[in-house]
This record gives sequence, structure tokens and C-alpha cells, in this order.
Amino acid sequence: AVIEKGNHRHFMEKEIYEQPIVVAQTLGAYVDPLAETISLPPLPFDLAGVKRVQIVACGTALLAGQVATYWLESLARIPVQIENASEFRYRDPVYEPGGLALFISQSGETADTLAALRHAKAGGQHIAAVVNVASSTMAREADLLLPTHAGPEIGVASTKAFTCQLAVLAAFAIALGKAKGRVTPVEEARLVHLLTEIPAAMNEALKTEESIHALALPLSKARDILYIGRGPDYPMALEGALKLKEISYIHAEGYAAGELKHGPIALIDENVPVIVIAPSGPRFEKTVSNMQEVMARGGLVYLLSDAAGLAEHGAGTAATIEMPSVDPFISPLITAIPVQLLAYHVALAKGTDVDQPRNLAKSVTVE
Ligand code: G6P
Repeated sequence: AVIEKGNHRHFMEKEIYEQPIVVAQTLGAYVDPLAETISLPPLPFDLAGVKRVQIVACGTALLAGQVATYWLESLARIPVQIENASEFRYRDPVYEPGGLALFISQSGETADTLAALRHAKAGGQHIAAVVNVASSTMAREADLLLPTHAGPEIGVASTKAFTCQLAVLAAFAIALGKAKGRVTPVEEARLVHLLTEIPAAMNEALKTEESIHALALPLSKARDILYIGRGPDYPMALEGALKLKEISYIHAEGYAAGELKHGPIALIDENVPVIVIAPSGPRFEKTVSNMQEVMARGGLVYLLSDAAGLAEHGAGTAATIEMPSVDPFISPLITAIPVQLLAYHVALAKGTDVDQPRNLAKSVTVE
């Protein structure tokens, strides 16, 4: 079937707007909303025996994996490592019995990720793959296939596949935590309930588009843009910067908020916008103090937070973006939407080819 853009200007915009539906579809495959439990596809190995997790992926899928490291370590209490697929083999990875290697890929065909999967398989690891294309090579070669149900993604810059990957990884982290005896049935029900709140919160987050549109023109004139965040907001900062450079060609970097003072703060002046990703919650105050370090040096701060966060610390920023208030467990999936919309609108303001950015391919099948 031919896939059309419908009322949208670009596939990317269409795919951003599809997220509440495709994330709900994806969660539907893992969540029983009435029993408030997670169920995984049949397991060819014992989940309770998994002693560590090695995540491997490329690009945006790697950043979904980086968000998942926080979920897996906090819920399952086992060590998690993450490496980009092109470097993985060069570390001469140490494989131990009971190791789970987890691969994340929209296409299921990315050459580096596939080569790493085969390496880990030869090393005796259990292989799980979070893949969007069910007929792909990685889907076939994995011991445990954890599908995303994002539907075909046409825009080269990944959007809906990313949030569907996050949804699957959050569900998987709960299931692993349960298998390890770390997540009680009561806790499972609480977390599953939070997952079911994601689609409605995403619909709310889409309403940021108007305010983001208003910021796009000034931001499109910047030469460099920094994104900062802490905890799972740090990989979201990396994703914001990646999305922006992919489609607007503006140089952008994501940094751990606390690491800013160890280098990149030297770049700050009135010409460098800093996007601060700081939903209220346990990490908010610390990120705000990093934000204030930027403001004290004349940097232009764009604060992405919820109503409570903005009421407390929105003053003195160049602009604020208000996202819905959600539990910190699910906030990365909600933050993703304004982050994607920002890249999209800056690219529109620059007039770049959003769906087919120069030099990039949807699926990279060379190493
Ligand atoms: C390319 C795409 C990215 C994608 C990456 C990994 O670089 O432009 O959007 O994140 O490949 O692709 P995969 O299909 O493995 O998720």
C-alpha cells in the first residue's frame, strides 16, 4: 500500500502526530490494562537467570536504549551496559553465561547492529531485539523478538519508532524486574497504570506545537545550540540535539547538565541558545542550578518543563515550553514530543528537506 502524508506537510509531522496511537498499539501488545500486568512473548530462556544486560544500537535507537538503562537498573537491579553498535566489537566484549544482549533497531537491518548481534550470539549471549520491521533480519535472528508496532516510518529522522521503542523497553524493564523478584505485584500495577497514561499525555504534549512554532525563527538563526538534562533527561538532551542537527543542519550538542561546567560552558554567550530539559521531580533543582550557571553567563535559556516547574523557575528565561505534568517514570516518552517538534519547526524555518535530509539514509546497511 502507498503511504500518504494526509493533511500533514511532511511524513515527519505525520509520524509525530501518530505517536499517541502507535504507542498505544505497541503497549497493547505488552500490557493487560485490566489486570495491570505485563506479558512478554514466549521466552526461550529464563528471564530470572539474566545477570546483566548489554544494549547495542545506533542513532536514535541507541538513545532509546540509553533511556532504558535507567529503567532496567532501577527496576531489575542488575548491571546494564550500553555501546553504540559500530564500536561494540572493538571493545572485545566480555561475555558471561546468563548475559542478555539487547539490540534496538527500527529497520532491523542496520549493518553495525546486525554484526554486533551476530557477535554476541556467537559469544553465547541470549539475544533480544526491539525491532519495528517484523520481517527483518534482526527479527529473525533474535531469540526473543520484542516488536514495536509503529507502522512504517518514512521520515529519515526517527520519531514514532523511538517512542515505541521506549514503550517496549519500559514494559520489558518491568517484566525483568518482576522476574528478578524486585518489582512486586503492587508496584507492577502502579507502573503499568502509568504506561496506560502515556497516549493521553502525548496528546497533551502535541499542544506545545504553537508555542514551539513561535520560537523556531529565532532558534533557526543560531549557529550552535546546546541541550542539557540529567538522568533520563540526559539521553533526551542527546536525542534533541541529534534530531536538530539531522534535519536543520544546525550544530547541536547534548550534554549531561552537571557536565556542562567541565567544558561546554566556555561556549556560552548571548548567541548560544541552551535548551534545558527539566520536568519537575527529583532531578529538577539540580538541573535548574546548572541552568542558572548558563543564565549568569548571558546564555539564552529555553526551559522545557511542566506548569509547576515553570512557575518556580521560568522567570528570566528566553522562553518556556510547557509540557504536561507526568510521573518521572514515563516523562521521557512525553518530553520526546516537544523535542521532536522543536527540531521540525526549526528545520521548517530554515527551509531544509525535512523528510530527506542531505547525506542521511533511513537504513544504513554498510559498516
Ligand atoms: C539511520 C537513521 C536514524 C536511525 C539509525 C538507526 O542513521 O537515519 O534515524 O536512528 O539509522 O537505524 P535503525 O533502523 O537501526 O533503528
